[in-house]
Amino acid sequence: MKGVILAGGLGSRLHPLTRITNKHLLPVWDKPMIYYPIQCLVNAGIRDILVVTGGNSAGDFLKLLGNGEEFGLQRVNYAYQKGEGGIADALKLAEHFAEGEKICVVLGDNIIERNIAKAVRDFEHVERGAKIILKEVHDPERFGVAELDGKRVVGIEEKPTNPKSNLAVIGIYLYDSNVFEIAKTLKPSRRGELEITDVNNAYIAQGTMSCEVLDGWWTDAGTFESLYRASQLVHDGGANRMD
Ligand code: G1P
Repeated sequence: MKGVILAGGLGSRLHPLTRITNKHLLPVWDKPMIYYPIQCLVNAGIRDILVVTGGNSAGDFLKLLGNGEEFGLQRVNYAYQKGEGGIADALKLAEHFAEGEKICVVLGDNIIERNIAKAVRDFEHVERGAKIILKEVHDPERFGVAELDGKRVVGIEEKPTNPKSNLAVIGIYLYDSNVFEIAKTLKPSRRGELEITDVNNAYIAQGTMSCEVLDGWWTDAGTFESLYRASQLVHDGGANRMD
């Protein structure tokens, strides 16, 4: 399986911090934010990684990460997203890189305490479809929110005013190669972006979506509150634990 990290966007919720740099280069405790999703993929046994960036300071990713030696990688692949088309738009840039293989997509501002090694292993064995990872949160209206029927996810709503559950869809997604065909059919949402939630709902409609609930903490880091909290969580207990 190959890994794709989405690290574009304008980071407008973090102005003025992101006026001169990319959100994913900001510090989370003692490391640049992008280090955490890379380590998450490496810990899941994924060695072939594409970083999709855009907006400010795209060249700084190359300066910072080089060929990924710090993570034990032999090289890192890069793609550049023009404009502000959203997560599913950025994903389209991974089609050539994926070469028909399954992919694990991680949003560049998502940090987890433990690891996704088992989810990745399990997904390697399924023939087709997608898998999302869920986490109970106290503020579901900030995220994509899953509606479950037993253990089956029957729908996802993006930032709902009246969430149907407290299970956020975290920014780590497993997809088969059909994801690129789905991405091509999407229409921009009210915020003018191609939404990853629409990709996931397409898999749900096909009946090929599975889900699981994450062990350990998860946070995004795209707002001042969550960026601060991410640093605290990493400082207090460390991220990307292997046990
Ligand atoms: C995005 C997704 C959302 C998901 C979240 C996880 O939100 O659209 O479904 O729950 O990432 O971090 P955004 O950060 O673009 O608002």
